[in-house]
Amino acid sequence: MSATHISIFGLGYVGAVSLACLARDGHSMIGVDVDTAKLDLIRGGNTPVVEEGMVDLMARVVASGRVEVTTDVDEAVRKSDISLICVGTPSAANGSQDQSAMLRLASDLGRALRGKSAEHTFVFRSTLVPGTVEDVLRPIIERESGKTEGRHFHVCFQPEFLREGSSIRDYDHPPFTIVGVNADAPRERLRRLFGHLPCEFIATSIRAAEMLKYCCNNFHALKITFANETARLAAALGVDPFEVMSLLCKDRQLNISTAYLKPGFAFGGSCLPKDLRATMHLAKRHDVELPMLSAILSSNRVHAEHAIGKVLASGKRRIGMIGLSFKPGTDDLRESPLVYLAEQLIGKGLSLLVYDPEVHLSQLLGANRRFIEQHIPHIGSLLRNDLAEVIAASDLLVLGISGGEVQKAVASLGRPDQIVLDLVNIGAGAYRSTVEGLCW
Ligand SMILES: NC(=O)c1ccc[n+]([C@@H]2O[C@H](COP(=O)([O-])OP(=O)(O)OC[C@H]3O[C@@H](n4cnc5c(N)ncnc54)[C@H](O)[C@@H]3O)[C@@H](O)[C@H]2O)c1
Repeated sequence: MSATHISIFGLGYVGAVSLACLARDGHSMIGVDVDTAKLDLIRGGNTPVVEEGMVDLMARVVASGRVEVTTDVDEAVRKSDISLICVGTPSAANGSQDQSAMLRLASDLGRALRGKSAEHTFVFRSTLVPGTVEDVLRPIIERESGKTEGRHFHVCFQPEFLREGSSIRDYDHPPFTIVGVNADAPRERLRRLFGHLPCEFIATSIRAAEMLKYCCNNFHALKITFANETARLAAALGVDPFEVMSLLCKDRQLNISTAYLKPGFAFGGSCLPKDLRATMHLAKRHDVELPMLSAILSSNRVHAEHAIGKVLASGKRRIGMIGLSFKPGTDDLRESPLVYLAEQLIGKGLSLLVYDPEVHLSQLLGANRRFIEQHIPHIGSLLRNDLAEVIAASDLLVLGISGGEVQKAVASLGRPDQIVLDLVNIGAGAYRSTVEGLCW
């Protein structure tokens, strides 16, 4: 790996560890912080943060002569080709992200760039709410430097995944390297710095990289809370929570896997809603509060209502629904979110026809007939056996199932004046209708 001149802004946990590791890897580092006490510590070969391995590593890299520190932003930009920006982005009192340090620094970086003729890459590593780099920071740097991003300089966003307490180990073994970037040159520059790490190097859009960092942290918080809520209920029931969670983790097919982690329509069916309700009832009986689990069904309802809102907002009144059972490949209509959707649309006075290949079949066989007759007779009468008829009679099609037959029919029979509300992410295709994803 050839040495690069790198400036790092913000020498807290992320910045100090990155500075030490990149210097260890042979790069020339110039660290910048507004806190001169931190700079003095580093100058003396000491670490400004308490982290396993940092005392030795910092002493070693400072002794190597590859580390400088300064408060001078101009000097740091001038002496480097690439800047990693790691200043703090804490919570403001109202929960929003306090970007004041970042905004001030972006102005300073822009002004520093004004006097530099060589190309420069700014890599934002602080956690930033999606849109910040392109909509807020890039314009500040352009305004203050008088230069244009993409021509004179580049901005990237590379989320940091290290954890305090194991940060050097995490730096060397990240789950992946994600680089949000708009051009080849900065992407390859970052590949030269981080491509040797034992993980996948993935380039994506800047916004996706910004959002991913939040998703990862939210997911981790959700996992911890799931384990803790499970433990509170287990303890109340006299069950060993460690045993239950360790068994849960053994299932790599459905539990610890990519299963269920794709956006789609609301869940339903004969198991998840009823078992969640029973869990909540049990918790109540034992005076156990489970705020996260108890919010799941209402969140699921909000998701179904999002679809209803989209249908109503379209202004279309003749609706065709493709799919009715709670998931493809089954005729089970119990607690199907599509049945809920159909009921809501009928309730709003829209005209509705429904096609579902499995339900049609089961009706013929009589398997589901009784359920339809007893529980949803109003929907049973709207079922049609002919998909073409439903498509022809509708101005908006709600696509609740995918599959060759359905996609082919929508592609060949859909009309340009027709909207397809896609609940299943059918993907690209030669559709004449306007395809609108539920939230994609
Ligand atoms: N701590 C973690 O484990 C971790 C992990 C991943 C991502 N992050 C994110 O990385 C960012 C940094 O986190 P941290 O924990 O290292 O923060 P920190 O608070 O430990 O350090 C931030 C540093 O930035 C300095 N600073 C503030 N304004 C400055 C300026 N204008 N110029 C130069 N330096 C300036 C501060 O003096 C401080 O030393 C945050 O956005 C955080 O969310 C943190």
